[in-house]
Amino acid sequence: MKKATEIYRSGPHAWLAIHRDPERPGFLIDTNEYLVTHGDETLLTDPGGMEIFPAVFSALSKVVDPRSLSAIFASHQDPDIISSLSLWLEVKPTLPVYTSWLWTTFIPHFGGDAGTFRSIPDEGMNLSLGASTLRAVPAHYLHSSGNFHLYDPSARILFSGDVGAALLPPDAPLLVKDFDSHIQHARAFHQRWMGSAAAKQAWCERISALAIDQLCPQHGAIYAGADVGRFINWFAELEVGVTQAPAVAPVAAVA
Ligand SMILES: [Fe+2]
Ligand SMILES: [Fe+2]
Repeated sequence: MKKATEIYRSGPHAWLAIHRDPERPGFLIDTNEYLVTHGDETLLTDPGGMEIFPAVFSALSKVVDPRSLSAIFASHQDPDIISSLSLWLEVKPTLPVYTSWLWTTFIPHFGGDAGTFRSIPDEGMNLSLGASTLRAVPAHYLHSSGNFHLYDPSARILFSGDVGAALLPPDAPLLVKDFDSHIQHARAFHQRWMGSAAAKQAWCERISALAIDQLCPQHGAIYAGADVGRFINWFAELEVGVTQAPAVAPVAAVA
């Protein structure tokens, strides 16, 4: 099963990563979920697919009361992000889901109703969690056309969704240990999934202006300390998106 590891705490404010399920079937991409708690309120980022709901719920229940969940943040609309929604709403039917306005009529195909969704405008917005304030930061087209990351200025943590993702072996550590070897597991993912060089440059400039101690992706390992800047610089230099027509085999003639 997955386990929850505390990655930040200061008084009533904490972040926990739910990560690494050794029993996860190989046909599912591995995911990280994060809990942000402040006092008796808890926000869950990208709760994951319905297949992994039991593992996430079990790990979460060991560290917080599931009824204390106060919000879900969905960075975008992918199934590995939010297809478990209907199951979380069985735990707490009034749970609000913060997501891009672009997806508030699409994600209800996974669950929820007219009262479930809180639209985030393209420019982003602040979210209150207890006495703390989090910021939904635009990351559009990286890779989803309506996409947000979540910045916590007091913890100096950025939840970066699919940006920073790496496809790692199941026994990989939660924190990046050796940036140069780690990033080899991230290269192909970013080259294919990140479709816009212009959006990537804008994100790198926007994120470089923030004080970040930990950059926490939805797949792979957490970049901490100097590795945060290393990742942003690596991403800024990486060629991504469509630079020429993709090479595909010609369509076979129909007899
Ligand atoms: Fe995605
Ligand atoms: Fe993802």
